[in-house]
This record gives sequence, C-alpha cells and structure tokens, in this order.
Amino acid sequence: MAGDLKGVILAGGLGKRLWPLTKITNKHLLPVYDRPMIYYPLSLLVQAGIKDILIVTGGNHAGEFLRLLGNGQAFGLKHINYAYQEGEGGIAEALGLARHFAFGKKMIVILGDNLFERSIKPYVERFRAQKKGARVLLKKVEDAHRFGVAEVRGKRILSIQEKPLKPKSHWAVTGLYMYDPAVFNIIQTLKPSARGEFEITDVNNAYARKNQLQFDTLDGWWTDSGTFDSLLRANQLVARQAKTTAGRGK
Ligand code: DAU
Repeated sequence: MAGDLKGVILAGGLGKRLWPLTKITNKHLLPVYDRPMIYYPLSLLVQAGIKDILIVTGGNHAGEFLRLLGNGQAFGLKHINYAYQEGEGGIAEALGLARHFAFGKKMIVILGDNLFERSIKPYVERFRAQKKGARVLLKKVEDAHRFGVAEVRGKRILSIQEKPLKPKSHWAVTGLYMYDPAVFNIIQTLKPSARGEFEITDVNNAYARKNQLQFDTLDGWWTDSGTFDSLLRANQLVARQAKTTAGRGK
C-alpha cells in the first residue's frame, strides 16, 4: 500500500518549446494519442496506489484542468488538490508550492510531460522502505544532453549535470522523483540557475552530497513530450502500446 505517500504532478511552466501549440492551451492538455497529456502521469500515480494528489499548474489556462479532471472521478479519486504557480520559475519552485499539501509526508513527484511504459509500483515500494532521503529513476538514452545526466559509481550517484554539452554518461534522470519532507528545506536554500530557474537537479545534487540519493534503473520505455520531436515520439509509443495491449483502462 502506498496510501501513506503523497503524489505531486508538476504541470506549470509556459511550454514555450511547443509554441504556437501552447499559445491557447496548457502543454499538459495537448493530446498524446487518444488522451490529454496530463492523464498519463495521473493514471501512473493512481495505478501505483497513490490517491492523495496535488496538481501544480500555472499560466493562462489553469482553469481548464478543473474542467477536464474535476475531482478525478474518472480515475477513481474522490478529490484532486490544485495549486497555482505564478510565472515559470522552475521545477523546484513548482514543487515548493506543495509544502503545505505534503504536510511532513514522503512524496512521489512526477513531471506532467513525462510518460512511462510500465508501472512505477516496484520503485515506489522501494522508496517506502527507504528511511530517508530521495530516490530517482535513471534511463539509458542516446540524447543525454537533453536531460539531467547522472554520474554513477556502483550504487552511488556522484552528481547530476543539467543538460551538459558533454554528458559524462548515458544515464538520463527521468521526471519521477521521490522525496522525504526535507526536500522543502533544500528548496529554500536554492539560487536560480543561469537560465533563471530553480532547478530540480540542484535539489537532487543536495541529496547526493549528503549521500542520500538512491536510484533505480528503469525498465520499459520512457519519454518526455515537451518538444515537437518528443511529443511525436510519445504519440507513437502510446499508439503502438494501445494497439498491442488488451484492456487498456480509461
Ligand atoms: O524530462 C526529464 C527532464 O525534465 C530532466 O532530465 C531534467 O533534469 C529536468 O530539468 C527537466 O528538464 P526539462 O528542461 O525538459 O523540463 P521542462 O522545463 O520542460 O519542464 C518539465 C515539466 O516540469 C513541465 O512539463 C511542467 C513542469 N514545470 C516546469 C517549469 C519550468 C513546472 O511545473 N513549472 C516550471 O516552472
């Protein structure tokens, strides 16, 4: 049971890399095959047993999330929590808005534009058993320079570089993060990066420095959907899966 864990979906930002698709709607409401993008992270959390969920959104189209998802009945939920991020100060800033919601509990955080082929339940269960610290999921990719990239030695992540020109490995840090409540103290100490954002990579590096950052390597495909190419890829992967998987839910 993952009922003691909170879930946070980060769906703020302005989706500038998808302009003009995101001029009149929020990126996470765009279609990925036969569903709005936000359906995928939401079902992933629910399927992993996480029922207490906060969606952080922002921009001019935040109200549409309520119209689309309501209280989450279509996902078997009784209630969804919402928070509003002013501007796009970064992923860590958006997560900072979850402090009152988390209320001292451990949490599973997912980026609203990330899609995973398989259940995250096994990783969530391992995090439940973890006494403190954080846990990330790594996936081997060819285009590591697009992501946070982990330098790994044995069972340790030494550090993570955000979008390095020359990646030190092929291990991309996916957009699924698991944190203990200390994450909010770390967020308070952050300074904006060169691109003017509060970076989730800085949060993860703070855990790595304390030797409290654990990881799993991910089975199955994973993709983001925040650029034209990755959005196309997400559509193709989901379409292929939908045609080969019987009894796909919702
Ligand atoms: O997809 C995984 C990658 O996501 C990681 O490997 C990187 O380390 C991480 O920084 C992030 O990289 P991106 O540059 O692709 O993130 P992006 O700005 O596209 O934001 C991803 C999601 O985070 C977005 O769909 C919604 C949420 N977000 C983002 C920003 C900048 C917010 O909620 N608020 C924000 O201000």
